[in-house]
Amino acid sequence: MLEAEQISKKFVKGVLRRQTVEAVKEVSFSLPEGKTLGIVGNSGCGKSTVARILLSLLTPDTGSVRIDGEELFSGDRKRDRARTRKIQMIFQHPESSLDPAKKIRYSLEEPMRIHHMYDPAKRRERICRLMDLVDLGEDLLDRRPRQLSGGEAQRVMIARALTLEPRILILDEPTSMLDVSVQAQVLNLLKELQEKMGLSYVFISHDIDVVRWFCHDIAVMQQGRFVETGPTEKVVENPEHEFTKELLTMRL
Ligand SMILES: Nc1ncnc2c1ncn2[C@@H]1O[C@H](COP(=O)(O)OP(=O)(O)OP(=O)(O)O)[C@@H](O)[C@H]1O
Ligand SMILES: [Mg+2]
Repeated sequence: MLEAEQISKKFVKGVLRRQTVEAVKEVSFSLPEGKTLGIVGNSGCGKSTVARILLSLLTPDTGSVRIDGEELFSGDRKRDRARTRKIQMIFQHPESSLDPAKKIRYSLEEPMRIHHMYDPAKRRERICRLMDLVDLGEDLLDRRPRQLSGGEAQRVMIARALTLEPRILILDEPTSMLDVSVQAQVLNLLKELQEKMGLSYVFISHDIDVVRWFCHDIAVMQQGRFVETGPTEKVVENPEHEFTKELLTMRL
């Protein structure tokens, strides 16, 4: 249901000596409903640039992104807004995405208020339901971000992304700042939510072991390109590209 076809994006870097960086080169993939695509690769290979294109924060130079067969950027602002709402993001640092001065309740209501979704009573009801869904008590709603642990803050961010009823979540290193046990809890929660709600995920990581456990398909990215893609077990058990082999041996 999410399809990227031959997307490319260049950046111009440097002021005096201008240098072109091809951050993403002819990347294509399709992501079915209820499935997870993992993107692995070294720092700077273009993973977050792909994420920002999928989130409409960047426009690709060439290529197209379609959701349910419809172009993500058609130019019709109202329709594009409704489409892009279906794709939400979970960032690596929840604390930088939550307003430190505001209570959690406010941060959860904000997206629905901005998108004119529901009346205030219905919003309050949804907030409680979402807190329950991410296994957080309602007492947290009256706290501020600094009064939460890293794991709790990431659960709040998941609830916040779900307020807009997305079908796809982009997870850019969502748990790399959490310790291992909390990381497993958050990833398990994401798996549960996927099963309950049929969500699709794009999961970005440089930890191939986490990707192997969490993702149905893997795309191995090197210098802007997807050099190898396929079902996770196949790629891990029978890597074809040199760089995939390197990634797999590096962790040993
Ligand atoms: N706005 C920008 N302007 C110029 N260059 C950029 C911009 N955004 C990204 N780049 C460059 O594009 C390349 C890919 O960056 P990107 O952030 O997508 O990498 P990444 O795979 O997410 O890395 P990491 O694992 O460190 O997060 C890098 O060379 C980066 O310097
Ligand atoms: Mg990145």
